[in-house]
Amino acid sequence: MKVTGRIIRYSLILFVVLESLLLFHHSVRLEIRISRRHHQPQLTTLDRIVTTTENSSREQNASLINHQLIITQSSPLVTLKYPSQHCKDAPVGKVAYIRTHKTGSTTLTHIVNQYGLLRNLSFCLPKSGSLGRYMIYNVTKAKPKMSLLKPLNSSSFNESFPRFSMFTLHTLYDRQGMEKVMEPNSRYITSVRDPVKQFRSAFVYYGFENGFPDEIKKELKSRPIAEKLKEWFRNATSYQQTYKLKNMRGEPRYYYTRNSQINDLGYNMKYIDDKAKISKYISKLAREFDVVLITEHFDESLLLMKKELCWDIEDILYFPKNIRFKKSEPLPPEIQTSIREWNFADLQLFEHFNRTLWTKIRRHGPSFETELIEFKSYLKELGRRCGGEKQVVLKIARPVERNVTIDCHVLKCGEGEMFEKLRKRQYRKQ
Ligand SMILES: *[C@@H]1O[C@H](CO)[C@@H](O)[C@H](O)[C@H]1NC(C)=O
Ligand SMILES: *[C@@H]1O[C@H](CO)[C@@H](O)[C@H](O)[C@H]1NC(C)=O
Ligand SMILES: *[C@@H]1O[C@H](CO)[C@@H](O)[C@H](O)[C@H]1NC(C)=O
Ligand SMILES: *[C@@H]1O[C@H](CO)[C@@H](O)[C@H](O)[C@H]1NC(C)=O
Ligand SMILES: *[C@@H]1O[C@H](CO)[C@@H](O)[C@H](O)[C@H]1NC(C)=O
Ligand SMILES: *[C@@H]1O[C@H](CO)[C@@H](O)[C@H](O)[C@H]1NC(C)=O
Ligand SMILES: *[C@@H]1O[C@H](CO)[C@@H](O)[C@H](O)[C@H]1NC(C)=O
Ligand SMILES: *[C@@H]1O[C@H](CO)[C@@H](O)[C@H](O)[C@H]1NC(C)=O
Ligand SMILES: *[C@@H]1O[C@H](CO)[C@@H](O)[C@H](O)[C@H]1NC(C)=O
Repeated sequence: MKVTGRIIRYSLILFVVLESLLLFHHSVRLEIRISRRHHQPQLTTLDRIVTTTENSSREQNASLINHQLIITQSSPLVTLKYPSQHCKDAPVGKVAYIRTHKTGSTTLTHIVNQYGLLRNLSFCLPKSGSLGRYMIYNVTKAKPKMSLLKPLNSSSFNESFPRFSMFTLHTLYDRQGMEKVMEPNSRYITSVRDPVKQFRSAFVYYGFENGFPDEIKKELKSRPIAEKLKEWFRNATSYQQTYKLKNMRGEPRYYYTRNSQINDLGYNMKYIDDKAKISKYISKLAREFDVVLITEHFDESLLLMKKELCWDIEDILYFPKNIRFKKSEPLPPEIQTSIREWNFADLQLFEHFNRTLWTKIRRHGPSFETELIEFKSYLKELGRRCGGEKQVVLKIARPVERNVTIDCHVLKCGEGEMFEKLRKRQYRKQ
């Protein structure tokens, strides 16, 4: 076990070194940077960064430049009559998004990443992105100088206080550790989902049925999910153990199989059956988080987040595809009950934050509903236009008229591509 661990560790180190060299190689290649002139100072456009080598042919160079010209061509204008009040405070540019597993966090990650990308904010990013897909499980243990990319605007890298503005990695929430790497007065956001849906999604994604004995697994292989879940709950405590062994995910931090949301949010899982401690911990989270989004009420949550962070409407636009979960057969009531009992802590967590979400929405009065309808229609229109156009100009009518250019590529790009953009940009400053 020990030897295997060492081999794994050395392979990882070798991998980091190799990848760093590779990135360095990329960064010394020549780049053309073509910026577009803004008609308006408040226009948010993204500079396209194109990489060519010294040996690129004239045609290749020309095609890249033409590509840029196409992007700058005048494009369709969508008018948005945005009804909401102007925010009095300055927009918040220091945000830590603590992601939870299987709650549809990709869309919100994209929104926060896009916000920071367009404003050149520094992200907490591991030097090597391929290691475990953008996660730092324990920020306290991370050695910033070794493992993190330097912030964009710091001349010297203070290892104990690296100070990033944005955080969108997977991590186990640890407030003290987070405060060490984030700018002071950063805001914290997270998202939670109905545990019945979250557990079902995790069950399929992580293959909890691998915990079943082989003959049962074979028998249930092509049976409906409800039957597999029924088998799981026949002996969940035992299956959870065999699942962990079979998947070599025995480490206590991987609580995918039970109450995984509160685990991601840093709860000490030793006390997972202690109802008083759970309730106390949820109150603590409520104090520490500025916004808790509810996956099932995503657009409502985004509007509240926008208000809380004083962002503009264009900052919370997303390409409406990821968030649409496939409609699936509802589970039999008795299985839903089993899931809720098994994920008791997550249920408390979800119910608490769904309640506070709706309390906040009610506080905003009837204008919230109007705003929501508008917002949903922008998203639909944006989705339609960005399907075919490279960019869309949004004319925002209220409270002050302005034009905003949305780069459809940035809006639509995948998680991996987005993180690579962020890493490359920050890597140049090392
Ligand atoms: C460009 O071409 C020259 C001559 O063929 C070659 O020596 C050099 O390595 C090439 N550079 C790159 C970056 O491909
Ligand atoms: C293409 O662009 C690169 C980088 O700007 C430049 O070094 C190279 O000379 C250009 N090639 C031609 C044929 O103009
Ligand atoms: C971000 O950086 C780019 C390139 O350094 C610059 O052109 C752009 O104006 C910056 N954007 C903001 C919002 O500061
Ligand atoms: C992270 O590591 C620190 C120092 O070893 C430890 O005190 C802390 O409990 C860890 N946090 C988590 C969430 O495991
Ligand atoms: C870096 O930029 C952020 C956001 O623009 C700012 O809050 C922070 O004070 C800056 N840090 C340094 C060391 O200049
Ligand atoms: C890093 O920052 C901390 C807190 O501001 C400070 O006490 C410490 O001296 C700094 N270390 C270096 C090497 O600048
Ligand atoms: C659950 O699994 C354990 C360990 O394999 C076993 O001892 C126990 O009898 C099982 N319980 C049921 C109800 O099957
Ligand atoms: C959240 O609470 C609201 C208001 O009580 C309720 O209508 C809604 O169904 C709840 N959402 C979920 C996903 O349970
Ligand atoms: C927005 O763009 C339209 C069309 O190009 C133009 O007529 C209008 O003056 C612009 N508005 C502002 C505030 O720049």
